[in-house]
Amino acid sequence: MSSTCPAAVIVLAAGEGTRMRSATPKVLHRLAGRTLVGHAVRTARALQPDRLLVVVGHGRDAVAAHLAEIEPTAQPVVQEEQRGTGHAVRTALAALPDPAGPVLVITADTPLLTAETLARLVDTHVQGGHAATVLSAVVPDPTGYGRIIRTAGGDAVTGIVEHRDADQAQRGIAEINSGVFVFDGKLLGAALQGLTADNAAGEEYLTDVIGILHADGHPLGAVVAPDHREVLGVNDRVQLAEAGRIYHDRVLTAWMRAGVTCVDPATTWIDADVRLERDVVLHPGTRLHGGTSVGEGAEIGPDCTLTDTAVGAGARVRNAVCDSAEIGEQATVGPYAYLRPGAVLGRRAKVGTYVEVKGSRLGEGTKVPHLTYVGDATIGDHTNIGAATVFVNYDGVNKHHTVIGSHARTGADNMFVAPVTVGDGAYTAAGSVITDDVPPGAMAVARARQRNIEGWVQRRRAGTDAARAASAATGANGIVTPEDGDGG
Ligand code: UD1
Ligand code: CA
Repeated sequence: MSSTCPAAVIVLAAGEGTRMRSATPKVLHRLAGRTLVGHAVRTARALQPDRLLVVVGHGRDAVAAHLAEIEPTAQPVVQEEQRGTGHAVRTALAALPDPAGPVLVITADTPLLTAETLARLVDTHVQGGHAATVLSAVVPDPTGYGRIIRTAGGDAVTGIVEHRDADQAQRGIAEINSGVFVFDGKLLGAALQGLTADNAAGEEYLTDVIGILHADGHPLGAVVAPDHREVLGVNDRVQLAEAGRIYHDRVLTAWMRAGVTCVDPATTWIDADVRLERDVVLHPGTRLHGGTSVGEGAEIGPDCTLTDTAVGAGARVRNAVCDSAEIGEQATVGPYAYLRPGAVLGRRAKVGTYVEVKGSRLGEGTKVPHLTYVGDATIGDHTNIGAATVFVNYDGVNKHHTVIGSHARTGADNMFVAPVTVGDGAYTAAGSVITDDVPPGAMAVARARQRNIEGWVQRRRAGTDAARAASAATGANGIVTPEDGDGG
């Protein structure tokens, strides 16, 4: 990392991003779960600048609110009208009088930039004693980018020409401007005063500062990015997806090197802020989003989507969708389970097949194995919830809470009509609708007693296959006699 910390990093994020064709400002579009401006400030932060300024304009309220949330040290500076990248930097400098030291300018639409490359750029700038140093790249298709103009010998940088303003010969240059620069803070302000909007776009180009500094006889430098993909600019959704794929490969490679098994990288997506421990196994079709974390040795997938979910060590999650849930160590989830916000599963708990859990805590070793909805409940330790149970939490107006103790055994097909409490060690009978509290150790039976009307089918459904089968089993009158019962 850099030995020199810049005096300031200025992130340019005021443009509309017309080519995105979106109601959302371009810099709030997401890549690997993080906004484009989020990538830029995260990378900038790593350089430990004295000041971190973000030029905002289009959608400024939304962008500023987002910055306050993700990086409160980033100071938004409003560019009222977007009159070009040079004008944007001039606006930022108004909030940064007399910067002592190098000023780094990056754009918010180059999410693949790494802090290592930026640190190298700053070091080259400082060691070379340059007035400005540009990060360039040699790309297979330079269309749309500014071109780096060098002296005939090819050594010294003399200027940058924008694609729209370039002549045929200049368009043949493969070395492009990444949009990232380091400037001598003392020279930048004066050079910006020299900008005009006399060009194809009618904007003040930051790139013209290079030509101005060269004309004034200041030394300039360039660092060519080692991998040209690092400077890929995102201007439309095709480039967003392309950058997303490259970022995705990078993230997966890093996790595999850190000890995570990824069975099928092509169908595994891991957001930028996800945390994994060693010996995690990710099966095909696993998507980990937001602030999801997975503990040592846990196995996820196939076909799981986890968002902002914490998975404990050794847990097993299959075919599940989990949002803002906590899954305890060695717990099991799925296949075909849905954990919604506030689902908290204790150690070794089990949420099985076709089970939905919301706003509920399940204690250690507690099992909800089949076909059940658990909403707004607290369940103790080592309790078993019978199949096809519904926690009836909603009375049409308000939500209510259910409490079930530890070591309880609730029957299949129960309804717990909240608010209701079932004590420790209690049982409930299958098919019960539990509306009253059940004391510890009690057996609750809440259903009508069974009544058999013998011979009903032969009388009321005479001539049907059912009636014939019944007669064959019981005799013509349909009454089971002791002899029939003995098979006589
Ligand atoms: C810019 C460079 C080009 C370079 C390319 C690299 C200029 C004139 N051109 O072109 O040489 O090859 O980036 O990706 O600098 N912005 C503002 N305020 C404005 C205008 C833009 O904050 O008034 C911000 C945008 O939000 C964006 C960044 O500056 O994050 C770059 O603007 P954009 O319009 O994308 O420039 P490019 O045409 O890509
Ligand atoms: Ca751009």
